[in-house]
Amino acid sequence: MSTENKRIREEKRTKAQQIIRRIGLWCFAFLLFWVISYGANNRLEVSEYTYETNQLAYSFDGFRIVHLSDLHNKIFARNNGVLLEQVKALRPDIIVLTGDFIDASNHTDIDAALLFMQQIPKIAPTYYVTGNHEYMIDRNKLEDFLKKTESAGVHVMKNESVQISSKTGQTFTLIGMDDNSLQANLLGTLAEESEDDFQVLLAHEPQYLSDCYAPSGVDLVFSGHAHGGQFRIPFTHQGLYAPDQGVLPKLTEGIAREQDTTMYISRGLGNSGFPLRLFNHPEIVCVTLKTVTGS
Ligand SMILES: [Fe+2]
Repeated sequence: MSTENKRIREEKRTKAQQIIRRIGLWCFAFLLFWVISYGANNRLEVSEYTYETNQLAYSFDGFRIVHLSDLHNKIFARNNGVLLEQVKALRPDIIVLTGDFIDASNHTDIDAALLFMQQIPKIAPTYYVTGNHEYMIDRNKLEDFLKKTESAGVHVMKNESVQISSKTGQTFTLIGMDDNSLQANLLGTLAEESEDDFQVLLAHEPQYLSDCYAPSGVDLVFSGHAHGGQFRIPFTHQGLYAPDQGVLPKLTEGIAREQDTTMYISRGLGNSGFPLRLFNHPEIVCVTLKTVTGS
């Protein structure tokens, strides 16, 4: 074989090796992305908080509120068995659900949402307000779902308040706002009518904290809707986008405070039309009330 032929063959071999290496790198990158995104979308994270107050009777000391939001018809293995087990392990006194348990985009499954609603009140008394997605499905189907959810033992709260009792009979007020009514002036009226000093609000959308929730004087708010900003910048708590807040949204997770109101925002559990969250695990929130003596 001539030297020229040898050189050509060598060049071809080098090129083939480069192509194989590039394909290998792409496959590795894809696999890594898949592993990270699978973890980000399926590994449940529990965020525990303690809320101190001198407004509650001592009998509420240690009272645990588990907060779930934005399931969007996601199923965490075996009919949500994994999710239900983790909620049960937190030993909640009550469970609050802040909307979007049905997804109205491309994976609507009302039966799956109903199955969840039939299981969750077996763990603890459960209180549920709708999100924007529930109102995007057919109105008759929604009414039927809400009726069956109530029959299963979940308190569906449509602009109403209930009193939550401790073991010794002291109470606080839980207000549940329908997603369609968040901006209406109903919250102020419900809060004013409350017989208790301490008031907790369930409201799907967090962006009304300054304009509606804090001015009404409620003490605590549980909210969701923002999905943690969907894609989060690694090692920060900054999400990239949230509905109704746009890019680099502020109210997507954790605690926000305004006047005397503290709001807990869940990053939610599932996804809507866009099927992926990144660096943003599905979240179960658990708030333990701690009573302190007033000054
Ligand atoms: Fe949502």
